[in-house]
Amino acid sequence: MPVELYGPVPGRTPVLHAVVSHRGRTTNLWLKLEQENPFGSIKDRVAYSLLSSIFKADLPCARIIESTSGNLGVALARYAQICGVAFTAVVDPRTSRKLVRQMRCADAEIVEVTEPDETGGYLLARLAYIRDRLAVEDRLVWPNQYENPANPQAHFAGTAPEIFSAVPVGELDVFLGVSTGGTVRGFTDYVRHKGLPWRCVAVDELGSTALGGLSAPRSLNGIGASRNSSFVTGQDCPSMRVTAAEAVAACDWVADELGVRVGSSGAAVAGALRWLRDGLGARDMAVVCPDGGDRYEDTIYSPVWRRAKSLTAQSNAEFPKVHSVQFVDNSLVLV
Ligand SMILES: Cc1ncc(COP(=O)(O)O)c(C=O)c1O
Repeated sequence: MPVELYGPVPGRTPVLHAVVSHRGRTTNLWLKLEQENPFGSIKDRVAYSLLSSIFKADLPCARIIESTSGNLGVALARYAQICGVAFTAVVDPRTSRKLVRQMRCADAEIVEVTEPDETGGYLLARLAYIRDRLAVEDRLVWPNQYENPANPQAHFAGTAPEIFSAVPVGELDVFLGVSTGGTVRGFTDYVRHKGLPWRCVAVDELGSTALGGLSAPRSLNGIGASRNSSFVTGQDCPSMRVTAAEAVAACDWVADELGVRVGSSGAAVAGALRWLRDGLGARDMAVVCPDGGDRYEDTIYSPVWRRAKSLTAQSNAEFPKVHSVQFVDNSLVLV
């Protein structure tokens, strides 16, 4: 029998509008808060879109398998549970224990790859495990978030138009974190398709090779990858790399001044703040915040973790002044 896609529809997440200024220049900062998706992150959109693509293809499917650094695994586990399909999450020792527990509670089978691959990361090892298992197991389906066009499509059809509905017409710089590159690809396709005067800016953690470059140890989870993205290159749009210290400082600024806790999204916020300080940004700057601080209590928001990673606090002098903060009326979001 074909499997049907059930479960809460992701999207229509809130946008927080902050009016900020730096050295006399006023900027509208628009934060798209993806933690308000049904299962807590932007990857709910991707999970929904991936599952829709494989269920429509009507493949014989008794179990789904996917490699995940956490967010996608939680979303797939919850949707698979609702749809009555078994799910295997292939994770590694860096995956948040909290997210692993959430996947387990949603009946997911957890396979933890413990041997790093030749890059020193675990992504290639996770993918090798999936390929080995696909070779021997019938009716096992891999959505493949790294190559499936349904990943960027979720942002082309959802995240990007929702921002379009929430911000004024005109120039906009949109800061997007990179892992698979699906978000950036969905946005760049949308901007081209609509002919918008938007600049997409890809933000990655220093040491990630998602957009090319040399690999080095990284501290943040959720953002970055140890191999090149199949969806985007460093040439597709302006890009920048930020340090974990910058991301953590940006998380603190957002929590203290705007009143919300974001997760590794702090990296994309840090990218926007850097452009703002350097006077590079447009009058309107949007940041897509993939998840919330609730998933980072043992890392970004833990003093112990910060000390272990030698991430010392930065001076507030370099942060913009905040004049007002308010949510954009969600009823205005027409998709
Ligand atoms: C912190 C962070 N940055 C960026 C992303 C976007 O990832 P991708 O490039 O796979 O769309 C995610 C996805 O969960 C994330 O958690």
